[in-house]
Amino acid sequence: MRKFLFVEPEGEIEKDKRQPASYIRRNFYVRGEIRKAVLDITALGVYIGYINGHRLTQEELMPGYTDYKYRVQYQSYKVTSQIGEGKNVVAVILGDGWYRGGLGADSARNCFGERLKLAFRLVLEYTDGETVTIESDEQTLATQDGPLRQNDLKIDEVYDARKEMRGWNRADFDDHLWHGVKLSSYKGEVVAHEGEPILCQETFVPRILHTPNGSTVLDFGQNMTGRMKFRVSGHDGHTVSMLLGETLDENKNFTMKNLKIQGTGSHVAEDLQRLTYTLREGAQEYAPHFLISGFRYVKLENWPEEVKVENFEAVAIYSALQETGSFTCSNELINQFVKNVRWSQKSNFVDVPTDCPTRERVGWTADISVFAKTACYFTDSSRFLQKWFHDYELAQLPDGNLPFAVPAYKKPDDTWGCMGWSNAISNAAMTMYQFYGEKEIIEDVYDTVKRFVEFNIQRAKVNNIKSIIKEWKNRQYIIDTGFHFGEWLEPGSNMVKDFMEAMLYPDIEVTTAWFYETAKQLAQMARLLNKKEDGKRYAALARKLRNVYRERFLKSGGVREKRQCKYVRPLAMHLAEESEAEQIAARLNQMCVERDYRIGTGFLTTWQILDVLSDNGYVETAYKILENTKQPGWLYTVTKGATTTWENWYGIDENNKPTDSLNHYAMGAAVSWLFSHCTGIRPYKPGFEEILIKPMPGGSLSHARAEYKSRAGKIVSSWQREGAQFKLHIETPKGHKTYVELPDGSRLESDGGVQEYQCVLK
Ligand code: BGC
Repeated sequence: MRKFLFVEPEGEIEKDKRQPASYIRRNFYVRGEIRKAVLDITALGVYIGYINGHRLTQEELMPGYTDYKYRVQYQSYKVTSQIGEGKNVVAVILGDGWYRGGLGADSARNCFGERLKLAFRLVLEYTDGETVTIESDEQTLATQDGPLRQNDLKIDEVYDARKEMRGWNRADFDDHLWHGVKLSSYKGEVVAHEGEPILCQETFVPRILHTPNGSTVLDFGQNMTGRMKFRVSGHDGHTVSMLLGETLDENKNFTMKNLKIQGTGSHVAEDLQRLTYTLREGAQEYAPHFLISGFRYVKLENWPEEVKVENFEAVAIYSALQETGSFTCSNELINQFVKNVRWSQKSNFVDVPTDCPTRERVGWTADISVFAKTACYFTDSSRFLQKWFHDYELAQLPDGNLPFAVPAYKKPDDTWGCMGWSNAISNAAMTMYQFYGEKEIIEDVYDTVKRFVEFNIQRAKVNNIKSIIKEWKNRQYIIDTGFHFGEWLEPGSNMVKDFMEAMLYPDIEVTTAWFYETAKQLAQMARLLNKKEDGKRYAALARKLRNVYRERFLKSGGVREKRQCKYVRPLAMHLAEESEAEQIAARLNQMCVERDYRIGTGFLTTWQILDVLSDNGYVETAYKILENTKQPGWLYTVTKGATTTWENWYGIDENNKPTDSLNHYAMGAAVSWLFSHCTGIRPYKPGFEEILIKPMPGGSLSHARAEYKSRAGKIVSSWQREGAQFKLHIETPKGHKTYVELPDGSRLESDGGVQEYQCVLK
């Protein structure tokens, strides 16, 4: 932990009013030759830093998003070559960021604080051995009279080019009219940067659309998270606006209505993702400083000249995780679906894993819980998620309760401890352990998960009045208080109605299953860490909870429900005995056939349905659901031109009417099945120390190929099918035991390397 001197650059502010960005300077003098200069810098807000006019880094949105109540990251930059003898300057633009800017569906502001703060420390080592430290102290100067009049990551950016201060970030700038700053302090910890770098990545050029209602709209062809740069010529004082949205409506006009929460007036849809720019005279170009948007389309308002393609460029911005997995097959719609899911991951991996890059931008926990496996196939997600886990751990309440969103930007309330959501730290950590084999991941989260399980043991003893009679027998183990979203967003469901129902009485099938799953995971973690007593205690708890679940929800061996999730969950969590599982799977299969292979699951089981069908002998059904192009279904979204995955199965209906976010990754979690089942690449031992290749051909596919860069080395599984002839090519790292299970049931083993197999399909 490092000590920093914090300053507040603004004077008196009205906290409910939007503020201009602060431009900050700290001049300093250098008397001779410098051997080494390192600048450490952080902010409560979001900063862009310069030394003598040179930008410190290409990384965006520094210092990153952490739970600022407890900690903030600092960044370190070597700036030796940018410093010269005489006058020098550290210059910073400071904006609201996650700290003070809009967060969540209602774009609540000031969630972590009302006043922005900045801190830096520059250590200069002269060649003669003297060391001098320059800090953000009372010699720091600031102005709020710069061109950035309003700034936010989500809501808007308002820029007035007439107020630009030429050379403001260079040493020779005349800052005598700037004012001083107030010395301040920060109670949290200032920690070294943990996350992955947030960088500008792919760029896109638009097509120009003239929509039926007379608007000019740019279409960048890809839904993404990022920014639009533009060039424009016009007269001093002319103001243009740009609205950034994900889609066109059913009449082919630009819309942002889908960014409203269904059935609520939570905010006016166009109250976000707006860029307003006032020109100075002549030609100029601009890229937003802080505003970052989820968009594919941009509606131009009041453009002063002919709109030309070459004047616009979109750039995707996201955390630069190492890519580890790729998948292709003979069905082009599946290939597009895989791309879409990857784009939803990119769009929602901007320093923390979020639900969507538009309406909320919140680190909703279940979203990554169900997506973690897919994320781990696509990318090396360990550093990115471990940083997030640290904020998860810090948010834990003294009684062990955990939030449903991390960083926990809202005060704790009854919605904390939401089963299926709040336990995500356990579920995601176990997934990561399977992929990376690092015990540190488990060590890191262990106490948090343990305290959360203990919290649940206690709260299960308190009962909802409705349960006292009905759940008499097992009431001590059933969590029926608090708020739990339940399965959430099944096809045909109504968000508002489900929410109200969940407020009154939670779905105890969901809470019991997730209580069991978390206790089981905790017992596994305890065993891995050699915590014998804990291992016994939580294994016994898990056994008890499994019995409770079976007695209550699997009466006489079966499930009597009409919802697919009620079958998928006990199968996926192994809550049923083998013979029961057979019946449950058979019934699930039958339901899928009766629904004509349209998916019927919601948030909490969509990621599992293909796995449980194929693991229980219904591979063809799994393929038929995956390849179904009717609504609701994954490939339906592709036939509707989706370039990302949607929050809701009815995201764009048959009449092209959009609803809800079109960039949520949770429902796209089926991609893990393409790796683990279709091409069959699985960790046999954590970290792929030993590897299982168990391909499951089926559906319309004549070939499929996946590649995965594991910690142990590169893995390839590629198969072809011609009639009943099945050929498999695999590559696994040498020296790593590889088990192969062919579709005809034969099992083979090797010590890695390149192998070819074939068999006849039954
Ligand atoms: C978010 C989800 C989240 C959910 C909780 C939504 O508004 O966008 O992805 O998990 O709330 O049900």
